[in-house]
Amino acid sequence: MPAPLVLGLESSCDETGVGLVRGHELLADEVASSVDEHARFGGIIPEIASRAHLEAMVPTLTRALDAAGVGLADVDAVAVTAGPGLVGPLTVGTAAAKALALALGKPLYGVNHVVGHAVVDELVHGPFGEQVMALVVSGGHSSLLLLEDTVHVTELGSTLDDAAGEAFDKVGRLLGLPYPGGPHIDRLAREGDPTAIRFPRGLNAAKDQATHATDFSFSGLKTAVARWVEARQDAGEPVPLPDVAASFSAAVADVLTAKSIAAAKAHGVSTLVIGGGFSANSQLRELAAVRCEQAGIELRIPPIRYCTDNGAMIAALGSAVVTRGLPASPADFGVDSTMPLTQVLV
Ligand code: KG4
Ligand code: ZN
Repeated sequence: MPAPLVLGLESSCDETGVGLVRGHELLADEVASSVDEHARFGGIIPEIASRAHLEAMVPTLTRALDAAGVGLADVDAVAVTAGPGLVGPLTVGTAAAKALALALGKPLYGVNHVVGHAVVDELVHGPFGEQVMALVVSGGHSSLLLLEDTVHVTELGSTLDDAAGEAFDKVGRLLGLPYPGGPHIDRLAREGDPTAIRFPRGLNAAKDQATHATDFSFSGLKTAVARWVEARQDAGEPVPLPDVAASFSAAVADVLTAKSIAAAKAHGVSTLVIGGGFSANSQLRELAAVRCEQAGIELRIPPIRYCTDNGAMIAALGSAVVTRGLPASPADFGVDSTMPLTQVLV
């Protein structure tokens, strides 16, 4: 018997994503984004995102069904992001998923967005096996997770202040770059010298190992960049944007990779998965590849289109919980903007 066909809906932020997955096979992944509508505000406006989800949900669903060559009647289970994320956007997606599940008479699974960012890699590089270490880095999260049998999650650490992508977006703003600043800093960094300025590595000193070995902090780094730039401007000197971008990116990539690999070693885990929108970052990808190779750790990073928010990641996690026989979510579950990362399923 073929594995169940799982429909996944994602709407936690500014992307409306619809994915269709059977087992570990991706059949369709359609995304509509409202990112351009937020650019002039310099951040996501939840009301605008919610309205965009409302408008995009049915057309995106139709495109996904067409791409997979299936009909709604073929769907065996519906998965949807229950959290974490923005309440209004999450509510649009869960309302759509509840309506579909009810109309089709199929089970509904409210799943965790952040865990989905890691599990989507099963569609690309195959099943995780017993244990993987997952670094999920995005605009809203920087977390180190230990995944056992894919769906059992231990949260080893997270950021104490800004997420990696958030720090990039804030530094982008102070460097006068358009929103979101992350990709712009990445582009500038490729022309700069990553060793030009020695920016601080948050929580990576020997004294932090006892209490914060697996936690991150980027707000001190962000302040250090701001001070450095201000000092230059006050002295009437030009700001070497590529060097600032490259040195800042190097500090973030250094801490993220050092801590992930140390955690993998400490837990005897031989695979590191990196997911989330920030894993598009070139310095992170390059440094992770070099350091994992040195440490004898298998590195798995999905292609960039599966790292940003999408429906395939929710369908992938839905498929993982369905095939393990976990109970469906109650029909009246609510969204959880701060859903704990250890809670894979509502
Ligand atoms: O996962 P995602 O699409 O949305 C959230 O759930 O947050 O991540 C978006 C974040 C933004 O902060 C964006 O600036 C950052 O990822 N980002 C990057 C790059 N591409 C996206 N940051 C640095 N370098 C990149 N190439
Ligand atoms: Zn995300």
